[in-house]
Amino acid sequence: MELKQSKTYKNLINSYAGECQDHARYAMMKETADNARLYEIGCAIDEIAKNEQYHAKRFYGEIMKACPEGCPDLRVDAGYPFTEKGELTADLSSAADIEYNESVRIYAEYEKEARDEGFAEIADLFGLVAAVEHCHMMQLNNIKQQLTDGTLYKRGTPVKWKCSRCGHEQESCEAPAVCPLCGSVRGYVKPELPDN
Ligand SMILES: [Fe+2]
Ligand SMILES: [Fe+2]
Repeated sequence: MELKQSKTYKNLINSYAGECQDHARYAMMKETADNARLYEIGCAIDEIAKNEQYHAKRFYGEIMKACPEGCPDLRVDAGYPFTEKGELTADLSSAADIEYNESVRIYAEYEKEARDEGFAEIADLFGLVAAVEHCHMMQLNNIKQQLTDGTLYKRGTPVKWKCSRCGHEQESCEAPAVCPLCGSVRGYVKPELPDN
């Protein structure tokens, strides 16, 4: 089967559109975190945004292999979420739901369809992206959990806190409200965020 005639081709186009929106969603969410002066959370979200950009780039590359001359009007046809409110914990929650949907439902389905249609490499790509989206879900849920239960900058036992600006480190139950070395606010202290 020719890729251009396949369901997989449509799935690639919809995936590209979805990843572009995911990138935009996290770029907006980074601003929300920065506005709350949670700059290191903003950095973590910015890294997720970059991941989405590279997912989009990979899908774009696969689409262009089927139309190397380019195509001015490929149709995007799928439902996309519009759930951001500009409120950090609510947006973390809805983004985690979106990541869950992408990893467990959408990309899992696209992977199967690509395999059924004989596009093994594209199926593998959907599988690889699905795994990252699952990690994103875990990261977002973790940040949200720490924000809501108050453990982001406060622990029951002393832990090491490090200022991302000047490198000052200290062991304490609570991160310093203001860095004793450079005077930066707490939002520049790196919180402990497991990778996934
Ligand atoms: Fe992605
Ligand atoms: Fe993601």
